Amino acid sequence: MSNFVKTQVCIIGSGPSGLLLSQLLAKAGVDSIVLDRKNRGYIEGRVRAGVLERGTVTALEEAGVAGRLHAEGIPHHGVDLAFDGDRHRIDLFGLTGKSVMVYGQTEVTRDLFDARFKDGQQFYFDVEDVVPLDLKSSSPSVQFLMAGQKYAVSCDYVAGCDGYHGVSRQAIPSSVLRTFVREYPFGWLGILVDKPPVSHELIYANHQQGFALASMRSETRSRYYVQCDINDDVSAWPDDRFWQEFSTRLGPETAADLQIGDSFEKSIAPLRSFVAEPMRYGNLFLAGDAAHIVPPTGAKGLNLAVADVRLLSRALIEHYKKGNDAYIDTYSTDVLKRVWKVERFSWQLSTLMHQFPENSPFEKRMQRAEFDYIASSESASRVIAENYVGLPLHSQL
Ligand code: APR
Ligand code: PHB
Repeated sequence: MSNFVKTQVCIIGSGPSGLLLSQLLAKAGVDSIVLDRKNRGYIEGRVRAGVLERGTVTALEEAGVAGRLHAEGIPHHGVDLAFDGDRHRIDLFGLTGKSVMVYGQTEVTRDLFDARFKDGQQFYFDVEDVVPLDLKSSSPSVQFLMAGQKYAVSCDYVAGCDGYHGVSRQAIPSSVLRTFVREYPFGWLGILVDKPPVSHELIYANHQQGFALASMRSETRSRYYVQCDINDDVSAWPDDRFWQEFSTRLGPETAADLQIGDSFEKSIAPLRSFVAEPMRYGNLFLAGDAAHIVPPTGAKGLNLAVADVRLLSRALIEHYKKGNDAYIDTYSTDVLKRVWKVERFSWQLSTLMHQFPENSPFEKRMQRAEFDYIASSESASRVIAENYVGLPLHSQL
């Protein structure tokens, strides 16, 4: 016997995409349920990037969840690129009139959960065997198991916000779905440490021994990364080794200001570029990591997901409130145009800033020449800046 549930939009996945979508829909009076194979504690514990574009901040403001973000977030007006010890500041604000906000994705997720719980959102956590069905019909459904009981959700639309490993994308027939992928031959080892950041702005550094990134979560908590072997285990990176590599890659001048301490989080993430097309199949919409992955250089993952959700919520709200399906019909093409531009930027910055084992001496010189060009040209710096602060929501603009 199944438990039957009815809603307007069934949201699969309770990461930032699914949470923000449910929040924006609820504010417009559209009913949704959210299900996730994990639970709130697990989801909030995932450490991810922490740089929010202006458009992301606007979306969180519109969603009514930006109070803590404005109190605790740190506005950044610039970002540094470094190459073998030479540093070049990209003046984000001077070049674009915009800045970014440093605020951890974990905190964004917590703020969204708080708002959804306060609002009485219906959540189903720790679910298994999620199956979206009848997606081409006007009455799709989603089946799942929770605590050994069967559930069947009947809805108008299914929002696939279930990340890269989710089931939503897989529900699109292989004759329809096209995927594009680029795997990078290295990973990022990241640590969190309760020491003040080495620099008050982020530093992305390319050094002969590999990439390093100095980021932060607050004035007293730093988030640092080094490029590592794709097959490395964190056990190969005791703190001593991390600090040694990190200081070398930042260069002596910057490292002189580095405060070291015991890390309290350490993890390795692979780097991947991935896009799935289309992002709509019948009454299923994909949003966020379910449809695309970017390498973390540039911190676009969350920002891209938020842009998708802004367009998806607008499409659904127009449908319910005005009977207008124009945005539903153009969702996939509109979103993908922007997605590919952001993929391009993340790929370009990753290609510029890492040591690739397969790079010939010629390609190494090309990287150096590109850095020198950016450092010497305001136009080239502006290109980086306008991408870093975030492209407009509508890519055709
Ligand atoms: N059924 C239900 N839920 C699922 C399933 C499934 N089969 N598969 C995955 N999920 C859930 C995951 O447990 C996770 O909580 O979907 C959620 C997807 O969340 P994210 O991976 O965070 O993806 P998204 O919300 O699109 O976030 C985009 O945030 O998490 C980062 O790297 C990500 O920066 C990117 C941005
Ligand atoms: C982070 O703070 O974790 C971070 C910042 C910038 C990036 C990636 C990660 O490009």
